[in-house]
Formats: sequence, structure tokens, C-alpha cells
Amino acid sequence: MLHTFTIRQIQQVIRFIKRWLPAKDEVRKPMKFARQSVAMIRREYQGMPLEEKNVSPNPLQQFEIWFEEAARIIKDDPNAMMLSTVDPDGRPASRTVLMKGFDDYGLTFYTNFESRKSVHISANPAVALTFYWPDLVRQVCIEGVAEKIPDAQSDAYFKSRPVSSRISALASPQSRELSSRAELEKRVKQIQNEYEGDEIPRPSFWGGFLVKPHRFEFWQGRVNRLHDRICYVKKEGGYWKISRLAP
Ligand SMILES: Cc1cc2nc3c(=O)[nH]c(=O)nc-3n(C[C@H](O)[C@H](O)[C@H](O)COP(=O)(O)O)c2cc1C
Repeated sequence: MLHTFTIRQIQQVIRFIKRWLPAKDEVRKPMKFARQSVAMIRREYQGMPLEEKNVSPNPLQQFEIWFEEAARIIKDDPNAMMLSTVDPDGRPASRTVLMKGFDDYGLTFYTNFESRKSVHISANPAVALTFYWPDLVRQVCIEGVAEKIPDAQSDAYFKSRPVSSRISALASPQSRELSSRAELEKRVKQIQNEYEGDEIPRPSFWGGFLVKPHRFEFWQGRVNRLHDRICYVKKEGGYWKISRLAP
């Protein structure tokens, strides 16, 4: 037997379906949901206390303790750090790079010496580095001065990279405009043909920078946004002054 629906029932069904379909303007503006809800993204930080009396007197040793924990817990890129530079007109710029080493002198990363960041550094070597490890609710902010590492050290690291990465370093005129992706791939092919079977040498335009720090800040997320911040500032004679900063 056929059931006949009233107009009212049909309207109810349409209303029900509409609730599950995106509204017209939501289709046009897929960002609408993210924009409205971004302020609602919130979590409580429950980190362990960071006390002046428990930190190392040397910030690089404290960094080593935290980095070891990060490397154990963070699955991907625990060594990723935000590198901030300043252009000759005083305008800042940031991008992610990978820390590839650290010791008592500072932290090292590798890049193209003709890139935008390197142009900034040659005009003004003052840089800032920021690590954020969300799983540990920890941040480390470092300020220092960048200088090129010795060629032999860059050579040794370049040699340790996979062949494909070495070819890419040679092929990429980092930060400069390309006409297309095809142009980049063509450059890769040319280099592959040129060095077929041969050792790929480090190009002079690629190598490492050492950031020699003069300020460190270790930030540990704590409950109710009452975070711990321990700051180290390098003083005359190489002594590190330690202080607590308000969150
Ligand atoms: C996870 C991650 C790691 C990266 N590591 C490096 C790196 O070690 N060296 C580098 O030159 N660029 C690295 N990049 C690319 C840079 O962020 C940036 O796009 C590039 O260096 C050009 O920057 P510039 O034009 O400001 O010089 C990385 C990007 C990401 C997202």
C-alpha cells in the first residue's frame, strides 16, 4: 500500500537532510568551520615542574637533556627548529630547518649559502631558533650569532647524505624563482647524467652554519597557564646568568 506524505512531513525530511549537508556558503568557504572554531582549540598543559635548582648551570647541557627526551618521545622531526633571520631593512623572516648537530659551541644546520636566509645572515648574523615539542609541552628559544662552519665539516656532512639529497642540493637554486617544476626536474636529470657513477662533490654554495648562542629560554607548559620559564643569558667571561621569567 502506498503511503502518502503531507507537505509538512516532506518539509521535515528536507530540513533533516539539510542539517547534514554543508550550507551553500560553507561550500564556497571551506575555511568557515576552522575560523569559527579556532578559538575553541584548547588543552591543559600538565608538564613536570622546571626548577632553577634542578637545571644545569650550562644551557647547552640543559638543552642536551631536553633534546634526548624529545628524540625519544617525538616520532617525527624532533630536530626541526624555526630559524628566524632579519633582512637588511630590519624585517624578520622565519622558516623551519633541521638541527644536524650541537656541542659546547652551539647548534648546526645546513642550507644553501645563496638562499634568502643566508643573504639575511651575511648582512646580519643575529638569528633566533625555536624548538616546540608539543608532546612534552616544551619550547626552547635560542638567540645567537650564525657563522659558517669550516669547509671540511660541511664536506663530511654532505658526503654522509643520500645521493638523491646531494643531487637535489646541487640542482636547487634555493629561494630563487623557477619557471616551473619541470625546470627543477630537468636540472636534476642533467646533474644525474653529469655525475653518473661519480662522487658528487659538495657545491661551494651549500654548507653549514653554527649558531653560537648568547640567550636560551626553556619553557615548560604547566597547569592553568602558569608555565615555567627559565632563562640563561651569557655574561662577560662566558658565565651564564640564570633567571625565572613570568609566564
Ligand atoms: C621539516 C622541515 C625541515 C627543513 N629543513 C631544512 C634544512 O635543514 N635546510 C634548509 O635549507 N631548508 C630546510 N627546510 C626548508 C626551509 O623551511 C625553507 O623553505 C628553505 O630553506 C628556504 O628558505 P629561505 O628562502 O628563507 O632561505 C625545511 C623545511 C621543513 C618543513
